[in-house]
Amino acid sequence: MEQDTLKADIRRLLAERNAVLLAHNYQRDEIQEIADITGDSLALSQEAAASAADVIVFCGVHFMAESAYILAPRKTVLLPRIDAGCPMADMVTADQLRAWRAEHPGAVVVTYVNSSADVKAESDICCTSGNVVNVVRSIPEGREILMVPDRNLAQYAARMTARKLSWWDGYCPTHERLTPADIDRARAEHPGAPVVVHPECRPEVVAMADAVLSTAGMYSWCAKSTAAEFIIGTEMGILYKLRRENPGKAFHLASRGLICPNMKLTTLEDVRESLVTLTPSVTVPADILEKAVSALEAMIRIPRDN
Ligand code: 13P
Ligand code: SF4
Repeated sequence: MEQDTLKADIRRLLAERNAVLLAHNYQRDEIQEIADITGDSLALSQEAAASAADVIVFCGVHFMAESAYILAPRKTVLLPRIDAGCPMADMVTADQLRAWRAEHPGAVVVTYVNSSADVKAESDICCTSGNVVNVVRSIPEGREILMVPDRNLAQYAARMTARKLSWWDGYCPTHERLTPADIDRARAEHPGAPVVVHPECRPEVVAMADAVLSTAGMYSWCAKSTAAEFIIGTEMGILYKLRRENPGKAFHLASRGLICPNMKLTTLEDVRESLVTLTPSVTVPADILEKAVSALEAMIRIPRDN
């Protein structure tokens, strides 16, 4: 089917179903183009919690749809590709976190939103890359802090807050691929261009960057900057809106490896099919939801730091 026909069908179905289409900043260009709202993990969680729609079509990965359901349990939450997961979220299980926590009585558990609902249910507060620094700052000095699953985000937060954190050994395979040699190469190709990276990157890459930001933070930083070109260290989907919103500026991906296969799974055909069948939907068992909701609600109350 032609893209224009598919898009028209999707818009009609969205209206018929009283549905809202939320898309993460890493989604395919055509998905971002048709979305009602595009954003980073924090913005999309806030949208899900506040939305008046009956149906949320989540174009992203599984943990995002789960979080939307936890924050808006009376709505139908569709994840057009149920196989769109996040390998980092799978790097820690609820049993592992329970065991780690038991070894550290009294510690506060900060869980990156890139985690399963079961893991969130064992946590005190969640965070995203958009508010991790403020989340850590909200914890009283002197309390021990455990962070799961992203070792890179935890090291960034420790550096920014000068707090002592212990972290789980998880990582994002996409951001982990970016190396200091890639940054050197990109700087040699584009001299003077600021390097803007996501905190999921390795600490040695973060240390080389001019700015370390969530995807939403990158949009505002690059819009405000007077630079004419930028080296971008995050998933390539971000380029769509960066280029559209800044027509006079050039954006170069720091490495060709910055593609998350899971974020690229969802197609317009999948979205259309999902709206027709109202499947696949994502739910969370009531006992898990009850425990996970407070950690997520605590997260969305903490303001952005970028
Ligand atoms: P945000 O910067 O949007 O929070 O995203 C990072 C990410 O990897 C989402 O999967
Ligand atoms: Fe997970 Fe990384 Fe893909 Fe985000 S970019 S969904 S953290 S694997």
